[in-house]
Amino acid sequence: MNLQYLEEERIFRLDTPGTSYLIGIVGEEGFLGHIYYGGRLADLSGIKTLLRTEEAPYTPDTNDRERISFLDSFPMEYSFHGVGDYRESCVRVRDAAGAGAVCLTYVKHEIFRGKEKLPGLPAVFGGQDDVMSLAITCEDKALGLGAVLKYSVFADTDAIAKSVCFTNLGEKPLYLEKALSGCLDMDNREFDVLTLHGSWGRERHMERKKLGHGKFKVSSLRDGNCHQEHPFLALLSPGADQDAGEVYGFHFVYSGNFMAQAEVNQFDSVRVVMGIEPEDFCWKLEPGESFQTPEMITVYSEKGLSGMTKSLHTLYRKHLIRSPYLHKRRPILINNWEGTYFDFNEEKLIEIARQSAALGIEMLVMDDGWFGDRCDDSRSLGDWQVNQEKLKGGLPYLVEQVKALGMQFGIWFEPEMISPDSRLYREHPDWAIAIPGRRPGMARNQYVLDLSRKEVRDHIMEEMFDILHSADIAYVKWDMNRPLTDLHSAALAPDRQGELAHRFVLGMYEMQERLLAEFPGLLLENCSSGGGRFDPGMLYYSPQIWCSDDTDAVERLAIQESTAMLYPLSTIGAHVSVCPNHAVGRNTPLETRGFVALAGTFGYELDITKLTEEEKELVSRQTRLYGSLCELIREGDYYRLASYQENHSYDCFQVNAADGGQALVFYTQVLNETNRKARFIPLRGLLEEARYVLYQADIKTEELFVYTNRIFSGSVLMKAGLPVERMWGDFQGRLLYLKKI
Ligand code: DGJ
Repeated sequence: MNLQYLEEERIFRLDTPGTSYLIGIVGEEGFLGHIYYGGRLADLSGIKTLLRTEEAPYTPDTNDRERISFLDSFPMEYSFHGVGDYRESCVRVRDAAGAGAVCLTYVKHEIFRGKEKLPGLPAVFGGQDDVMSLAITCEDKALGLGAVLKYSVFADTDAIAKSVCFTNLGEKPLYLEKALSGCLDMDNREFDVLTLHGSWGRERHMERKKLGHGKFKVSSLRDGNCHQEHPFLALLSPGADQDAGEVYGFHFVYSGNFMAQAEVNQFDSVRVVMGIEPEDFCWKLEPGESFQTPEMITVYSEKGLSGMTKSLHTLYRKHLIRSPYLHKRRPILINNWEGTYFDFNEEKLIEIARQSAALGIEMLVMDDGWFGDRCDDSRSLGDWQVNQEKLKGGLPYLVEQVKALGMQFGIWFEPEMISPDSRLYREHPDWAIAIPGRRPGMARNQYVLDLSRKEVRDHIMEEMFDILHSADIAYVKWDMNRPLTDLHSAALAPDRQGELAHRFVLGMYEMQERLLAEFPGLLLENCSSGGGRFDPGMLYYSPQIWCSDDTDAVERLAIQESTAMLYPLSTIGAHVSVCPNHAVGRNTPLETRGFVALAGTFGYELDITKLTEEEKELVSRQTRLYGSLCELIREGDYYRLASYQENHSYDCFQVNAADGGQALVFYTQVLNETNRKARFIPLRGLLEEARYVLYQADIKTEELFVYTNRIFSGSVLMKAGLPVERMWGDFQGRLLYLKKI
């Protein structure tokens, strides 16, 4: 890691272990240009030619006549609006006169060790030894706008964090109509663009296409309930794959409306921008006030997608997830949602807990339906009092019974919502987000609470705290089941209504922060109708996020593959459920369902009392298997070996211990084919010289692992491949374990 300003060259040099990122100051006015981002440079001689200031139209210093042409072709470090750069701007500001142009130029900078927090926002962090930061102050004097461009580089990962803080330096209000977090300009290299697309129950499927002229954008206006797009975009050099080729990845540490866009212009240069989606955004800055954008992460890999995955996994594990559970064994939980839906009482839950405890399950999570008079999804959100008719003896009794069985207890909340049929709504109808005179849109029979208001947040937190203090509760599932519409807050002035969507997200972050401050040992799992809010922002608060409401083992292969491309396995909420699966009606073997869920936090989402004795026996072996492997899966290095999304036939990935002494290979044969031979799969990251013994997990046996009588060298496994035989039937899972001898 290295971060310095080269005075003579007027260059900022930001180095991570394997990458360099260079920013130049140009001309008398001090435009900030993006020089280079890529593999680490040993020597910078000649690098400034990339700014093309020696090519026509030259800089405004030397050719003011072509100033607009200059601004429209210069590789900007942070693009601005309305003065000649017709590519996508990062910032647009309306001033008191109604004008909207912005032109930011260099004023000063500061370089320091460590990294400052971003007030009210999740952000990556680090200490004096492993992070260095740069703050470049720019100004638009005509507008009275200051902007601090913030950068941080890390000693242990090839990632850079960027954000911007704007300040009104003038005497009249300014309106920020667009405030993106960052930009990257460079020449096009025939890039492909990779994004993650989906729908409810079908989150995060990869889409890769050629990037052409014009703009390609993914975005969301759903504010936190978005299965459709992910705040991520990557550019890939032609032919780049898992292990080779260049990849530029961009990921947004934010849980609300976003945009990520790649654009190719007339000169075949590329501009990537990322930030809060400007539609539905306008932030008023009174004189002296500031606005901090959320943070975006950029990574560069010359080792294909696996390099990007490694950098992001390291960043999120070491510099984003704060939970004490990060390196702790997560309890095997059983959640009653798919088991009972709303139809439960204390007796049913205690019986589920009793039978689960006997099989090695460690926590009972009571999902939706325990409060107000909620017997279906049409009422009671906001009334966070225990339904005493359903749970006789109340929460303390239920929790004591569960704890007496040696299990922990967890509970579900949906704190951001209000049902029109609730006591809370009858008392405070104006607490719902709604436009006066217009009935707000319904989704799942509910409205959204106006979390921009402190009294609303305080009330909900108080009710949650009362519940959580009333019994020994170790886990909270924080759900969010509809997107925002009808944006209007009864508490915001007309010229501040454009702040609501972002203020809502800030309010939710503040509530989660307060929850964790009050209950520091709590295991928090975020959720949004499945995986609708699986983003780096939420990882700052919860070490795990429910990945999808689709628990089918086959569907999960694709969802978990794309999720694991960006996030460590330890963050991926994954449970075994019953067959036929409730989302797709498919029957898959219990073994396969277990192997797929093991590649995540592991748990069950079913009514255990309805399983056969034979199934229960397998469950008890699965829980033992989790016990023996959870540390390796949680802490290990992840390698994607084959993609079911690409080959439509089988799925394979590997998890290695950091020292290369052990490895797990997860293989799923989706559809069987007749008369095929074993498949050889080259492994990754082993010790070439070492020899490994191969075991195969078999939960039908007491031992759990069967010795296969096979020994391979690391180099054979990596160069020739591990043979995986065909299995009889569809949807067959295989879990192989390699141990160095
Ligand atoms: C959506 C979640 O994804 C489910 O797991 C469940 O908690 C339901 N909400 C409950 O309403």
